[in-house]
Order: sequence, then C-alpha cells, then structure tokens
Amino acid sequence: MKLLLTGVSGLLGINFAQEMMNEFEIIGVDRGKLVSAPFKILKHDLLEAGIVETILDKVRPDWVVNCAALADLDLCENDPELAKLLNTNLPRQIARACKEREITLAHISTDAVFDGQKDGFYGEDDSPSPIGVYARTKLDGEWAVLTENPKAIVARVNFYGWSLSGRRSLAEFFYNNLSHSKSMSGFTDVIFCPMLVNDTARTIVKMLDRGLKGLYHLVGPQAMSKYQFGVEIARRFNMSESDITPKSVNFAGLIAKRSNNLWLSTRKLSTDLGEDLPNFSTGLDEFYTQYEQSYPQKIRSYQQR
Ligand SMILES: NC(=O)c1ccc[n+]([C@@H]2O[C@H](COP(=O)([O-])OP(=O)(O)OC[C@H]3O[C@@H](n4cnc5c(N)ncnc54)[C@H](OP(=O)(O)O)[C@@H]3O)[C@@H](O)[C@H]2O)c1
Repeated sequence: MKLLLTGVSGLLGINFAQEMMNEFEIIGVDRGKLVSAPFKILKHDLLEAGIVETILDKVRPDWVVNCAALADLDLCENDPELAKLLNTNLPRQIARACKEREITLAHISTDAVFDGQKDGFYGEDDSPSPIGVYARTKLDGEWAVLTENPKAIVARVNFYGWSLSGRRSLAEFFYNNLSHSKSMSGFTDVIFCPMLVNDTARTIVKMLDRGLKGLYHLVGPQAMSKYQFGVEIARRFNMSESDITPKSVNFAGLIAKRSNNLWLSTRKLSTDLGEDLPNFSTGLDEFYTQYEQSYPQKIRSYQQR
C-alpha cells in the first residue's frame, strides 16, 4: 500500500510518517526541510500550478492524507490570501484530483471551526461558526473537499507531540519551559481535547482502512483546560507544576482570537469504528516514553541543519 502524505515536515506529517513507515510505503511531500528521512520524499511546493495532479500521476498512491496547511493562527490573520490558498483552495484541488483518479483521501481540519459559545460539547451536527481567518479558511476547506469528493474523510483534530522544530506543539511549550524551570502561563478558560499525534495517525489509518467517509471529530475523548494539560505534563515528567501560572486567555495579547470551548464529541467516530478512541493518559504515557527513548532527537535528525 502506498500512502502519500502532504505536509510531511509538519507536526502531524512527520509523526504520521514515523508511525506508519513500517506498515506502508510512505511518500511525503516536503518543500526542502527533510534531507535524511527513512521514507521517500518528493520536494515540491504544493502551490505550484498543476503539481498536485503531477504528483498523483507519478506516485499513484492508494491513500492520500492531506496534512499541509497554514496552521499558525496569527500568520493566517496576517496573510489571509495565503491562508485561503493553503487551507481552502489546495484541499479543493487535492479532493478533485483524488476523485478523478479514484484515490481515497483523508483531509485534516480543525476543532477551531466552532466559536466556543456553546455549553457542553460539539457534535458533527452542530453548526460551525469560525471566529478568525484560520478557522474560516479551514471550514471553507472542509466544504470544498466534501463538495468535490463526498467519499473523502474530513477529520477535525487536535493533537500534541514532538515536532521537527521542537516548538510546534503545546506539549513542547510546557515541556521546554518546565525543563528550564521557567515560569509560564496556562489558560484556565480554554477547553480542548488533546490527543497524542501518533494516536491521531493510527486512528486516521483505521478510518481509511474501514472505508469511512464524511465529517468526523477526531480528538482526545477527555476535555480539559490548557492549564490542566500543562499540569498533566508537569506531573508525568516529574517537573514542577507550580511553574505554571493559571491565566485567562483574555489577557494573553494574542493576535488571533481563540475559542474558549473546543470540547468535541467523538461518539460518531467511536461508534463507526466500533471501539473507544485512545484515552488521554495512555497517550501521555507514550509521549513520555518517546522522550525517554530519544524519539524527538530521532525525528529531528531527518531535517536540514
Ligand atoms: N497542531 C494542532 O494541534 C492542530 C489542531 C487542529 C488542526 N490541525 C490541523 O492539522 C493539520 C496538520 O497540522 P500541523 O500542526 O501538523 O501543521 P504544521 O506543523 O504547521 O505543518 C504544516 C505543513 O504544511 C506544509 N506546507 C505549508 N505550505 C506548503 C506548501 N506551499 N507546499 C507544501 N507544503 C506546505 C508545511 O511545510 P513547511 O514545513 O515547508 O512549512 C508543513 O509540513 C492542519 O490541517 C492543521 O490545520 C492541527
């Protein structure tokens, strides 16, 4: 089986490739960061005209997982045109090209499509109401994908893990500060459902394997505040949770507005998969084991220095 991963240098892409490289033939699309990865890399800018079709015709993958995006909320506010190209137009193009070639597609979206005003959790039937450029362009991307290619999977995710830069995920933010005994803030009024990125990758493969299609919430089954998440990391790594100061996101001075409630129900996905999604503490244990086994150093060794 050939699995084509766009955005393979990103937080999801690199961990997806690492997780699945022994099970599938992985072909990753990268703009030039990865020089010595143990899987095949095609060096391309996906915004180049016609490149998506060229890659698909050359590789002829069984599955495509689209992890490429402009996923930095503040960059999206500063460059809405680029956000639209990467988060809406590119997914549309990939969805159309996959449909024409009968290639199965999983497209990655975000929990941030909701404005967070609801009490309790959001299901797939709740109407999204994006509050920033990132969320709006991602939501438009979902619609574009499912309009072009109704058999595609669209997964709204939230994940953490080790990244190439060492700074991409919230877990790394807490780990980096805690390990230097630096004080940091954790938002008490932003609720989300973190999942270890390797669990995200394994679940997407199950979804592809079982022939699921359409919109799914794919996040951790346990909701918590970002502050609580930091505390959980501190405890697991046996570091000082008192270095984390509880704070409101309203006083954070961020460019892009954030939703306060990103609690998503995963019932539809667990029902259709016929199993529970991986729980938070198992994922956190694996994140810690990865650290002990130098997994972060391993994936970072794949990149250009
Ligand atoms: N991180 C989270 O918790 C989270 C939460 C919700 C949703 N998501 C969604 O999950 C998906 C993956 O996110 P991530 O955190 O892995 O993002 P990321 O770390 O920012 O990775 C984005 C990837 O897209 C690639 N890319 C951007 N522009 C490109 C271009 N013109 N041509 C080719 N590749 C390009 C980047 O390549 P370069 O390295 O060359 O820039 C990078 O590999 C995204 O759809 C995101 O919206 C993530």
